[in-house]
Amino acid sequence: HSTIYKRKTNKYQTEHRQYTSRVSGALFHCVISEGKPLKDEDVLHQLPVGTTATFYFRDLGSQISWRTVFLTECIGPLFIYLMFYFRVPFIYAPKYDFTTSKHWVVHLACLCHSFHYVKRILETLFVHRFCQGTMPLRNIFKNCLYYWCFAVWMAYYINHPLYTPPYYGEQQVKTALGIFVFCQLGSFSIHITLRNLKPPGSKTKKIPYPTKNPFTWIFALVSCPNYTYEVGSWLGFTVMTQCVPVAFFTIVGFIQMTMWAKGKHRSYLREFKEYPTLRSPILPFVL
Ligand SMILES: *[C@@H]1O[C@H](CO)[C@@H](O)[C@H](O)[C@H]1NC(C)=O
Repeated sequence: HSTIYKRKTNKYQTEHRQYTSRVSGALFHCVISEGKPLKDEDVLHQLPVGTTATFYFRDLGSQISWRTVFLTECIGPLFIYLMFYFRVPFIYAPKYDFTTSKHWVVHLACLCHSFHYVKRILETLFVHRFCQGTMPLRNIFKNCLYYWCFAVWMAYYINHPLYTPPYYGEQQVKTALGIFVFCQLGSFSIHITLRNLKPPGSKTKKIPYPTKNPFTWIFALVSCPNYTYEVGSWLGFTVMTQCVPVAFFTIVGFIQMTMWAKGKHRSYLREFKEYPTLRSPILPFVL
């Protein structure tokens, strides 16, 4: 087997050190003949092969952990938004440098935006359990470009000296704040529930069910309530700021999360015969 191994990975022999460290870091996809990639738990003598087996290794390129991707995605928007909020020089006209907005909704929006990303960072560090997975390094550029550019676009308009507050005034902002806070609490509750579902290091999959916490009761109707609450938070932020880029971000995020939720919903249905039939992927009874 080692001869095939070497032949297939010939180009790495000149960089022998890097090559071995890549192998020990399990950054190769290992495949028997044309089959599916092997899993970490697979044992050689239990594989459906005869006395000889041929392994093929495919280099997955540079990899990066999910946790690092999540953190870089979130730290960017947090700081970008604050730069616009404090109106650091070279963004708006010089006479506005380090001035503050006269509209209280702008300050509230900054508080909500920062809270959302600080929450996400803390959850990434202390709540989410990442199953050892990694993703290709280039993904981080794609993801960050998306989050960071939208942050620039939204922050520019909300903190602009000529920003006009929402049409229906205080009532609109308070309603929006209610939606936002509700969804933030909801998303936190869901993340805690998903964490408690998975004991550290275990790989067995379970169906999440509603718990005593009322924010998790939505599990009765939806497979991925974390996305439902995420969309809800951004909807609240859109109503609060009444700003086109925010609405746009909400819609794009909604489309993306619906795709993820549909995939997850399908895999739940595939894995569990007894999966609750009432559930929809992301929006109760609708989507
Ligand atoms: C949201 O929930 C889905 C389904 O339970 C899960 O696969 C996904 O990792 C969750 N996302 C986060 C950020 O927790």
